[in-house]
This record gives sequence, C-alpha cells and structure tokens, in this order.
Amino acid sequence: MADSNQTKKPLRSQAWFGLKDRDGFLHRSWMKNQGIPHDEFDGRPVIGICNTWSELTPCNAHFRELAEYVKKGVHEAGGLPLEFPVMSLGETNLRPTAMLFRNLASMDVEESIRGNPMDGVILLVGCDKTTPALLMGAASCNLPALAVSGGPMLNGRFRGKNIGSGTGVWQMSEEVRAGTMTQEEFTEAESCMNRSRGHCMTMGTASTMASMVESLGMGLPHNAAIPAVDARRQVLAHLAGRRIVDMVREDLTMDKILTRQAFENAIRTNAAIGGSTNAVVHLIALAKRIGVELSLEDWELGSNVPCLVNLQPSGEYLMEDFYYAGGLPAVLKQLGEQGLLHREALTVNGKTLWDNVRNAPNHDEKVITTFAEPFKPKAGIAVLKGNLAPNGAVIKPSAATPHLLKHRGRAVVFENIEELHAKIDDESLDIDEHCIMVLKGAGPKGYPGFAEVGNMPLPKKVLQKGITDMVRISDGRMSGTAYGSVVLHVSPEAAAGGPLAFVQTGDMIELDVDARRLHLDVTDEELARRRAAWQPPAPPTRGYYKLYVEHVLQADQGADLDFLVGSSGAPVPRDSH
Ligand code: FES
Repeated sequence: MADSNQTKKPLRSQAWFGLKDRDGFLHRSWMKNQGIPHDEFDGRPVIGICNTWSELTPCNAHFRELAEYVKKGVHEAGGLPLEFPVMSLGETNLRPTAMLFRNLASMDVEESIRGNPMDGVILLVGCDKTTPALLMGAASCNLPALAVSGGPMLNGRFRGKNIGSGTGVWQMSEEVRAGTMTQEEFTEAESCMNRSRGHCMTMGTASTMASMVESLGMGLPHNAAIPAVDARRQVLAHLAGRRIVDMVREDLTMDKILTRQAFENAIRTNAAIGGSTNAVVHLIALAKRIGVELSLEDWELGSNVPCLVNLQPSGEYLMEDFYYAGGLPAVLKQLGEQGLLHREALTVNGKTLWDNVRNAPNHDEKVITTFAEPFKPKAGIAVLKGNLAPNGAVIKPSAATPHLLKHRGRAVVFENIEELHAKIDDESLDIDEHCIMVLKGAGPKGYPGFAEVGNMPLPKKVLQKGITDMVRISDGRMSGTAYGSVVLHVSPEAAAGGPLAFVQTGDMIELDVDARRLHLDVTDEELARRRAAWQPPAPPTRGYYKLYVEHVLQADQGADLDFLVGSSGAPVPRDSH
C-alpha cells in the first residue's frame, strides 16, 4: 500500500488525516460515516474529483457515472478518491450568459481545493465554461491536476443528414426566417440534434477546450474526441484516476506542464483544428493564473498554420468522425513533423507531447487533411488593431466569407442587444449586404458577462436575397459553433469607454484582415467630441454582478477578475477546532 514515503513531498492531506490528536479524530471520524475504513487514512494520496455534474448542464449530466470510473482508477493505484461538487455552468440555460460566472466558478474550484484535504485533483469538464473555470481555479492552487473531458455527443442526424449542435441551430433558424424551412421541420430537428449524453459535437467551444486540454498536456491522449457514450471514454477516466495518484507521488504540479511552450502548442493546435475564438480569452486568463506571459498578439503564432480538420462550423464533419479518423493525436503529429510543436513539452502522463503522438495514425484524410492538401490553407485567429480597437479584436478567417475579409462599409449601429432584436427585421431599417453591422454593450462590463451575441442574425430582407453573411463587429463573443465574417472581442469595449462606444450609424468602417486593420473613418477631433458627450452605463448595485463589473479585465486580458490573476498555491490553511 502507498505511504507518504513513496511521494517526493509530504502529503498535504496528512495535515488533516495524519494527526493523532483531537483534530485528527475530527477529520477522520466524520469521514468514516461514509464507510471509509481506518486504513484509508494511512498516508495514501487523497484525490479530489472536482465534479461539474448538474441536470441544468445537460452536457455534463453523465458526470456522476464518469466519476465512478475515476474512483476505480484512484483506488487501484492506492489513492483515496473524494468527489466534490462545484458550480456548474450550462451554456444553454444559464442567463444572462455562462461566461459571467466563469470566474465565480473558478473561485469555487480554487477555494474548494485549497480548503480541503487533497493532494491532487481530477477536473471533470465538458460544457464550454466548465473547462476554463476548473483549469483556472486549479492553476491558482497548483497541485497535481489532470483534466478529463466528458466527451462529445454522437453526431446529430436529421432526415438522413448529419446536423451539428449549435451550428445547425444557427443555419436552420435563418432558414425558417428566410421561409425555406417550416416551423414543424424546425421542431422535429430539436430531438434529432442532441441525442446522446455529451457536449456539443461540432468543433465549438467545448470540443475546442477539450482539444486545448490535450494539446496543453493537461489531459491524456485522445481526451479531445472520444464520444461521451463510447466505452473508451470510461476507460480514459479510469486511467486518469490511476495516473493522478502517481502524479502526486512525482509532485507533477500544473506549473510543470502549463509552460509557455505548452500555450504555444495550444495556440497552433487551435489553428489546425479551426477552433473557437473563445479559446483566446480562456487561455490568456489561464496563463495569467499560472504566471505565464501570454498576450493577445501571441495568437498570431497560429495565423500561418493551416486548418487541417474538416469539422463544423468551418467544415463538414463532426467530433465522432474526428475520433474515428484518429483524433487530436493525428493532428498533433503533423504539427510536430512541420516543426510547429514544442515536442519536449511535458504532459500529465509523464511523457512529452511528441512521445504521445509520434506514431499516431490518420485513418481518414477527408476529415483530418494533410499539410500537403489542407482543408484551409491559413487558419488561426487574426488579431486586428486600429482606432476602433486600440487593444485589439479578433476574427476567425476560416469561418468567414473570403471576399468580406477586406471590406469597407457603412455602419449600422445597435446600441445593445435589445435594440438589435427590435430593429433587425424592421422593413424601414436602412441596411443592405454591403453595410457593416455594429453591436455595442456585449462586452465583459457591458452585458454584463461578455455574451455570445457577436454573430448577429442578418436582416430578413438581406436573407431573402439569398445572402448568408455580412461583416459584423462587436465587443461580444461568438459561440464556437457559429460562423461568419464576425469581428469579436473589440477592446476596450463600449461600456468601458472604448472607441466602439462612439461609432454612429452612417460612419464608414474599413476591415482588412490581411493587414490586421480595423479602422473607423472618423477624424480624431470628431471622436473626441463624441467622447466628451458620452455617458457610461449605470453599474450594477449589488451582489456578484457588482463585484464582476468593478473588477473584470478587458477581453485582451482574458476577462478574469483583476484580483484573481496569479496563484496562491495550496498552503494548508490553519485549523479552527
Ligand atoms: Fe454545452 Fe455546447 S451547450 S457544450
């Protein structure tokens, strides 16, 4: 049986369970009411299983079962598994936006880990914000940690065709508005899209973040793509349970994995998979927690990497197909062969990233294309600058319409999402496909919470001409399952007094993605005049909303709360008994 002598460092859990006095009695005795034998407190690693299970987070609703497989592995390796809940963030239900609560959930994770007797932690992650929230919270404690994603759903199937979660909703809702799909068909598709346990099966934010986990080295090989219902997902959880116990013995803490090299690997991987723009914000926030310098400009590292993976929303296939084709290891192998990977980056299984993927097969080059014939020659996230976004904005060229990547158009401005909804289908709205739609009030402070509303619906009268894309600019985010010529994360945001606040309908805007330029064609004098007349929105007056708006950083800084940046480690807190 394991004992603390086998570990590099004394186990912090022994500061609770290893005591012979009254305090030791208190810590052990109450735990024994769960049927834990006395000898399980003998100095074996205690592994927390941080669980985001919730029936309100359907993507994570299978996590209690998944946790049981982790526990088997922990027991087999001589550890003591203890599962605990943290705030769960369900993308489809939580209003005003799950992103508002990412930082709150990360605080829950951080303090739950630090305040409790654990030596290492398994992070059960799935729906979009649960992955960054748990990684960020755990990073601020810096114990050995291993993330296990819940896995994507099976392909959606509707009337003989694949439909992707999220992406299909955006497509079909526009078809209903354009009159090319009936309401009955739309309702029928509801039951066909999300038909198994798991998270969105497009390369949306959840699958992107599961891929980030794997490319950062924080998950086991194939973490990204094994479907949630495939038995191999349970095996992965089982193996993760075994491995985290050894990680504790080796003192393999998060800072040894989450290095600058790991983040650069993740940025290039995001490009190669056509990943979500949301990863930009989450990885910057995570890097700041673990003390790695990572800026918005660093995302340009991926800008010359081709998109290899032909997955929705940029392409055709879905995560199930991706797994059968070889999954993320088949992509990482190609990046490594092209010199686009820091091969020596360490991963949770104790091997380098390159050791994990060097022999990975590619079973289907339609799904995972090659550098010789990539799905899209240039992918990645383009970082735009200009007088409209002095601190930056982002666009995902692989999801945009090529001819709109260089465009000059007349701005049609919506001051907030309510105004957009009220006016977008108004016949009298002076707008056509050459205009540029501008939305304010969708940023971290403005919404509040940095909503996924950047992919604004197009005006009905434009859709009815058969037009499916227009340039859209906002300080909000976009669902990873969405697509279009959409400029996002404009920083500083309108509510913080950024230049976006002063754009008026009729102004001319120039977008030039190749030149990385976003320019408002208004003189500095006129902008100064508008700024002088501007009133900031009234801030929230109580509760978490108030705390959030007072402390949230801008998009280019990762939208974390300013006082959460960095790490406090996991010193054993003093006892109160
Ligand atoms: Fe949960 Fe898409 S709604 S991953």
